[in-house]
Amino acid sequence: MSECSGHPVPGFDLKRQNILLQEDLRKVLDEVIKKGQFILAENVQELESEIARICGARYGIGVANGSDALYLALLACGVGQGDEVITTPFTFFATAGAIARAGAVPVFSDIDPVTYNLDPVLAASRVTSRTKAILPVHLYGHPADMEPLMQVARANQLKVIEDAAQALGASGQDGPVGNIGDAGCISFFPTKNLGCFGDGGMVVTSDPEIAERVRMLRVHGSRKKYIHEALGCNSRLDEMQAAVLRVKLAHFPSWTERRREIALLYDQLLNSSGLVQKGVIRLPRQLPGCFHVYHQYTLAVGERDRLQQYLKNKGIGSTVYYPLPLHRQEVFRSLGYKEGDFPRAEQAAREVLSLPMFPEMTGEEVDRVVHVICEFWKGEVQC
Ligand SMILES: Cc1ncc(COP(=O)(O)O)c(C=O)c1O
Repeated sequence: MSECSGHPVPGFDLKRQNILLQEDLRKVLDEVIKKGQFILAENVQELESEIARICGARYGIGVANGSDALYLALLACGVGQGDEVITTPFTFFATAGAIARAGAVPVFSDIDPVTYNLDPVLAASRVTSRTKAILPVHLYGHPADMEPLMQVARANQLKVIEDAAQALGASGQDGPVGNIGDAGCISFFPTKNLGCFGDGGMVVTSDPEIAERVRMLRVHGSRKKYIHEALGCNSRLDEMQAAVLRVKLAHFPSWTERRREIALLYDQLLNSSGLVQKGVIRLPRQLPGCFHVYHQYTLAVGERDRLQQYLKNKGIGSTVYYPLPLHRQEVFRSLGYKEGDFPRAEQAAREVLSLPMFPEMTGEEVDRVVHVICEFWKGEVQC
């Protein structure tokens, strides 16, 4: 059944980026080796300032990965045993995993069907006397609706920890993501908009106490060598990764622009295909006042699984982020949720499909993806 005529288009291809940068990368990695300082040295410190600046925050604290950024930010915000944290069921597992690791209870709340992010009105209705924090996710690179969430937080004295793992550089009406709430969490996983050569992450904040606590918690709760005042863990961004990230950072603005150009091209081609008007597919939206960084370009399609298989047969990569909402995960069974509790998240899990998206992708490749999507419905819908 393989009909791979025409060029294949990968869902994501890091090799193209690495080839362009390889000389610069070798140079900085050689320097790190020569200096022989691998933990919390110069590149980490510089990168912390640079990422904080992108987010409009005062402090950046490099940690081992985005999951730990969430965990340590929660601990630093005082979240612990028995507290409730309101979050979305439609996200990567790490979001709710970090809440549970901190000893707290993830309280899921349904999403806005347009942005796939927490619906602030529904989130407000989930606040109880045990609620300690809200953890919105800026999914796919589109900012969550922060202003009403911040109002809920202020009215109930809750902390707000933003999961900006997919959204570095995005902004909403309240400014850059990561610095709207009390703390923001970034992931430098290789496939993220700014990715390193392994795992990496960062907490950003403008609150000096939160910054100080994360700094202490990432080294086993220690401010002074061998003196431990809190239970933290070993979670530091290493110097090699920071050096790689600083090389890439110089290109980050143009990569973001390119992602937005690719998204616009997808929008134009898919809009003129007739599929949108006929209600066959729904395109991602950038809401007014928002700056979407298109970590993913994600369609909603009723016939998602059949379309994905068709694309695969034609050599085109696509991914489902995420097929099983978190309230339906085995590990959270004891929380007592059931199918039907969050119908919008469940529908999204059945319908979303992320198309190839990376800055080095060519216009011809975007054309090819759209051409094959049209081909899938040929005969049924005029393309
Ligand atoms: C929304 C979201 N949150 C958290 C994470 C966790 O980041 P990491 O993989 O760096 O631990 C990721 C990335 O994988 C993510 O996409």
